[in-house]
Amino acid sequence: MPRRRCKAFVPLPRRFNGKVAQLTALCRGGQKAVQFRFTPWVDFSNYWGTGDLSSLPQGYLSTSVPKFRGVTGALLDLEYQRIELIKFNLFDNNGTYQDYISGRNGLVGAAIKTWPQMRLPANNPYYAAVGGDGEQLCKGDLIRARTLTGICNDIRNPLMGSTGTPFARNVEFETTFPDLEQNQLTKNRHGGRINLLTPDPQVISRKLFTRAQANPASCDNGFGSPTFSTDANCDYQKAPFFNVLAAYWIQFMTHDWFSHMEEGHNAPEMIAVGCTTGRVNNVETPLTPEDVQKLGCRPGDQVDKTYVLQASAPDTFTNNGQTYMTRAPKTFANNNTAWWDASQLYGFDDTSVKRVKRDPNDRAKMLLETVDGRQGGYLPVLGPSDPAAPQWMGQESVAFPDNWTIGMSFYHNLFAREHNSFVDAFRKQAAAKPNGDSGLRDPSNPTRIIRNQDVSADDLFNAARLVVAAEIAKIHTVEWTPQLLYDEPLYKGMNANWNGLLGTGDPDDSKALSDIVVHGFGKSKNATKESQWYSVFASGPGIFGMGSKVSHYSITNPDNVNGGVNHFGSPFNFPEEFVTVYRLHPLVPDLIEVRDVSKDPNQVVQKVAVIETFEGKATEAMRSRGMANWGLSMGRQRLGLLTLHNHPMFLQNIKLPRLDTPTQQVDVPALDLIRDREHGVPRFNEFRRQYGLRSLTSYEDFVDQHLAPDSPQRKQQEETVAQLREVYGTHVCDASKVITDAQVNDDGSPINDCLGHPNGSVVDNIEDVDTVVGWLAEFTRPHGFAISETQFVVFILNASRRLFSDRFFTSSFRPEFYTQLGVDWVNNNGPGPVMFEAGTPNGHKQPVSPLKRVMMRNIPELNSELQHVVNVFDPWGRDRGQYYTLEWTPRPDAKSDPAFQQ
Ligand code: HEM
Repeated sequence: MPRRRCKAFVPLPRRFNGKVAQLTALCRGGQKAVQFRFTPWVDFSNYWGTGDLSSLPQGYLSTSVPKFRGVTGALLDLEYQRIELIKFNLFDNNGTYQDYISGRNGLVGAAIKTWPQMRLPANNPYYAAVGGDGEQLCKGDLIRARTLTGICNDIRNPLMGSTGTPFARNVEFETTFPDLEQNQLTKNRHGGRINLLTPDPQVISRKLFTRAQANPASCDNGFGSPTFSTDANCDYQKAPFFNVLAAYWIQFMTHDWFSHMEEGHNAPEMIAVGCTTGRVNNVETPLTPEDVQKLGCRPGDQVDKTYVLQASAPDTFTNNGQTYMTRAPKTFANNNTAWWDASQLYGFDDTSVKRVKRDPNDRAKMLLETVDGRQGGYLPVLGPSDPAAPQWMGQESVAFPDNWTIGMSFYHNLFAREHNSFVDAFRKQAAAKPNGDSGLRDPSNPTRIIRNQDVSADDLFNAARLVVAAEIAKIHTVEWTPQLLYDEPLYKGMNANWNGLLGTGDPDDSKALSDIVVHGFGKSKNATKESQWYSVFASGPGIFGMGSKVSHYSITNPDNVNGGVNHFGSPFNFPEEFVTVYRLHPLVPDLIEVRDVSKDPNQVVQKVAVIETFEGKATEAMRSRGMANWGLSMGRQRLGLLTLHNHPMFLQNIKLPRLDTPTQQVDVPALDLIRDREHGVPRFNEFRRQYGLRSLTSYEDFVDQHLAPDSPQRKQQEETVAQLREVYGTHVCDASKVITDAQVNDDGSPINDCLGHPNGSVVDNIEDVDTVVGWLAEFTRPHGFAISETQFVVFILNASRRLFSDRFFTSSFRPEFYTQLGVDWVNNNGPGPVMFEAGTPNGHKQPVSPLKRVMMRNIPELNSELQHVVNVFDPWGRDRGQYYTLEWTPRPDAKSDPAFQQ
């Protein structure tokens, strides 16, 4: 193929949609990229070098130039998406939205940095300490470490991100709660077809979510064998490049970030949860007892209703002739701190912190008990005087104990050990150099050097918390996410978020950055672009540590302490839409294949039902088998693909004795849909339009066009499409009904009820598809993506923002807060210098990953098994092969592992 000069970026009119001009596509991925431009899915996945070896072009003397174009092009697209998301998708529910749109005192909304709504209210115990009714500024002890409720992370906006503040939104307020039909567009979009229980969530669960079983008896609805026999089997669709440790990792993360529940329950009122109607000949019809039996759903199930924070009609305002709501029609409290502060371990309110046990012999440490002489120590079990819901009895005593699983037990114990490892290392340093400068400073006495021997137990506990939280954020950013999105652009993109594109040491990356800045967005002098430019420049040094390298940094100078954060004009909290895309229950298998590290790690010795490791049973299982065996077992086993027909059977039938209902059971996958509907999440197609992705025009759009027409996979997808049509139905369309203002058609005309089909034709009710159902049905995905592109776009925005907004990851990532040992520990993945993997996995010189180092320190029994591991979330027995292969083949010494015969 002849070489041609590629223009870095040819912008198309209107929202980017992840779609580039034909010439750009040709330059970045040749004919393949051009061919798939007509689909609704983003273009970058068809560029050169963005898949495995087969994504590199044939017929070139060297593939490095096209690979560079492809991968850099993908990075440009992703950065452009992030810029647009920051520009279009921030909607705060605290009452700051009017200023965001209209500006304040001559400042455009995006440049506003403080908000009266983010002041502490008079009933907050720290009201006076931050300045009462005068100017509020956090200082002294309130700024030294992460606070219990998350106040004073931003020292000029003390309330931001704290426990109990409302979830934000990423979509226009007018488009939330579609079943309320708040405006004509929503009415037109759904035509009165949807409400809380329509289409019926349990019917959707049974028809679209159930895992098919070749031998149902050997699965027994997810209960497996009571003797844990290896003859038990529950089929599930498996991801070859992601393991069960990764599934539980993300549950562990969500317990840090958000919760709609309080102490394990929702509001007192109970609601029905479906199993009452189904679509027959395109009409919602009551289910007969035979239908119910055939489906296996339960009309008697009920669940506690979600808590609502505000339900009164929101005020409106006008700007430039357009009317806006000041907030969503209903808001909901995030009952956790929104910060990435390891609050699941350390607490987020007065009750949760009572469950966090410190070692009475060294108050800097977490309390760990020796169990049966096993190495390392285990968290203590909840005692009678600890605040706890009845269902938590028998579990470890931790700040966030809800939906406790073997995975939660694993990570809580692991990071409690890691906390103590840091404290031990600091104590060792203090013993060797008692007069050495610890790096810590007290803002009330900033010039006093705090020597190692002067560091109090409380100071050290708080520093260890900062270190553990930062390690967790780093593991998530440079280890979990690059394995979730296993391809080259995302490896680079995620490392850029942490280290910066310039910090990767790869000259291609600084070239990519200059392309982004110079070609991508050059030359704009528009003030409102301030925040968008910021995102681009952050790709250079990286978000982490931004603003922390100021010379003459003073802990008493608010502009130093707080100077690295950027909220882009909208106070930080997670949006409801973020919770939606974390409803990842298909990741969980029904049975865990248990191995024994002291015997042959290639052998599965038992199969334990996940439900037998739920709540108090998790603690029992952890203590009897030990961390190393669970680490090995979950590290070797593949997790469930995020796709339709792949929810765990046990979750559809789970018994929750806390529910005072006839069945005491609930179908959690169905509940996922109900909660989204209660929280007013827009349905899938409008969700995509709001986030700047192309919407679909029929259920057929889900079918992956890369597949050959006669491939079995394609046939299966076509069958699923037929099931979607059966459940969600069709209608005769009316082209005079405009259904959205978020995007327009390519020719500039409004998008209407016919979605491009002729007026009066029968079209799919694709607008009604629940968001979770939609993203599970996305069969077209970029290479190595365990999630869909719709979920991914939500992460691009919010994963960046939770770094950008947190001063402890930006300007306060400093020895004054973390200790010098703490800063080095986070940067180097533990004590001592950075260690490197042998060779160059996927073409990169790579540090030994942060979670591998954490495990080697705290579960040394796993060291020999971990020698083979580059990324802890890649199934441990797999041969990582060459350049982002997804092949399920064993590494040489794992050939006898039965997992590779499946
Ligand atoms: C054995 C494993 C698990 C069990 C038994 C379980 C159980 C549950 C239950 C009962 C709820 C419903 C709470 C309610 O709204 O009333 C829930 C919510 C949720 N689960 Fe899971 N879950 C498990 C694993 C996971 C995993 C691996 C993830 C991955 C991220 C996850 C993410 C979520 C999310 C995001 C919610 C909504 C939380 C909220 O609204 O604040 N769960 N889970």
